[in-house]
Amino acid sequence: MTAMASFPVRRQDFEFNEVPRHWVDNDPFMTAMFNALSSMFPNGERFFVDSVRGVRELVSDPVLQKEISAFIGQEAMHAKEHHAFNAGAIDHGFDVVRLEAWTANVLSIIRLPIFNNKRTRLAATVALEHFTGVLSANLLRREDISQTLSPKMQELWLWHCVEENEHKAVAFDVYQKVYGNSAANYLWRMTVMVIATALILGALHVFIAKLMAEDGQLSNLRSWGRGLWKFWGVGGMFTQLVPEYLDYFKPGFHPWDHDTKALLAKWKDRQGLNG
Ligand SMILES: [Fe+2]
Ligand SMILES: [Fe+2]
Repeated sequence: MTAMASFPVRRQDFEFNEVPRHWVDNDPFMTAMFNALSSMFPNGERFFVDSVRGVRELVSDPVLQKEISAFIGQEAMHAKEHHAFNAGAIDHGFDVVRLEAWTANVLSIIRLPIFNNKRTRLAATVALEHFTGVLSANLLRREDISQTLSPKMQELWLWHCVEENEHKAVAFDVYQKVYGNSAANYLWRMTVMVIATALILGALHVFIAKLMAEDGQLSNLRSWGRGLWKFWGVGGMFTQLVPEYLDYFKPGFHPWDHDTKALLAKWKDRQGLNG
């Protein structure tokens, strides 16, 4: 029997012409937050693909090979669609494409001799895939936020969130298969997660400030305060993620310990993403 991946690659070609300037909740900060995240995806996801490709010849399991192919297909499609959106944002005065280049600069930390090896590249991907997995599951749960996105952007983000959950364990499984779960490999994965967390949160908030400045909203304290509270306040979107984020540090943790299958089934139905 031929092995099959457990999830499909869906071709997409979104049209972003009608997306309004403030496409999240009609609010500058909320839009800047999602634009900043979007700016990180194209180069981030190409990095993920390259890091997994870099070790795939060491994977002999045919099922995992199929999962890797589907993972690469999904991430390549996400990079393409987010880049298409980012390129169009310039029409609203947001140079999101420049932030894509800044993301590449942040990722170039990997060229430091201590990090410049396949194991560290893959560990960085596993760490960032944990982020995207828990963040996207939370956006699927937080309809109070997802429903404030303009219709086309809801389609883009909900599709992306579904697929991040479908493939959330692929990079993790590849790391475990290729490098094993020795104490040294586990500790290195944890170290890389700590560094990746500092970099991604630092970069994200710098990018938000840059986008707010481009929007002439740097001193809009009402939008800053409201938005930061929505993410970092009690019950905020990031605050809520802390327990799931910390699970990563437990020895023996696997991404599917967070069971998002029912959540996935619900959103695949709602967004017409079955098959
Ligand atoms: Fe993705
Ligand atoms: Fe991903």
